[in-house]
Amino acid sequence: MAFTLLVNGTEHRLETSLEQTLLSVLRNDLNLTGTKYGCGEGQCGACTVLIEGRPARSCQTPARAAAGKKITTIEGLAREGNLHPVQEAFLEHEAFQCGYCTPGMIMSAVGLLASQTRASEQEIIRRMNGNICRCGAYDRIVAAVQSAAGREEKSSG
Ligand code: FES
Ligand code: FES
Repeated sequence: MAFTLLVNGTEHRLETSLEQTLLSVLRNDLNLTGTKYGCGEGQCGACTVLIEGRPARSCQTPARAAAGKKITTIEGLAREGNLHPVQEAFLEHEAFQCGYCTPGMIMSAVGLLASQTRASEQEIIRRMNGNICRCGAYDRIVAAVQSAAGREEKSSG
């Protein structure tokens, strides 16, 4: 049966098998390869996207379950050629080494700051605990998210 996914503001009409994951559809059908395959078991966060503004593990989300919902991937964050404040902060703090975890980290951070612009260091660590960085860039990642939190707060008021 066909269904429609709304990804980064664009509707896509798709036909997939019932068991196909959102991660697989994003990468293989829509060529949105910024979302990464890590563990495939919901344990690493590399595949994190936003569904209705909330971080979700796309490797654990059946594609059809996301039909009709607003999905945002790392490719959909920039606006009119300007990076999202969280992306800018990651660059400024060099909050990555190999970069494999980075899209998932950024999507989790964007979801976190959307719900809590004043997130403390402890809150950032607690809420992003499920995102794994095998390069161990955690200090810089937390610093980047803290920095982005300050910017989001200024821009929102
Ligand atoms: S690939 Fe989805 S959580 Fe690891
Ligand atoms: S920067 Fe390499 S996994 Fe995080």
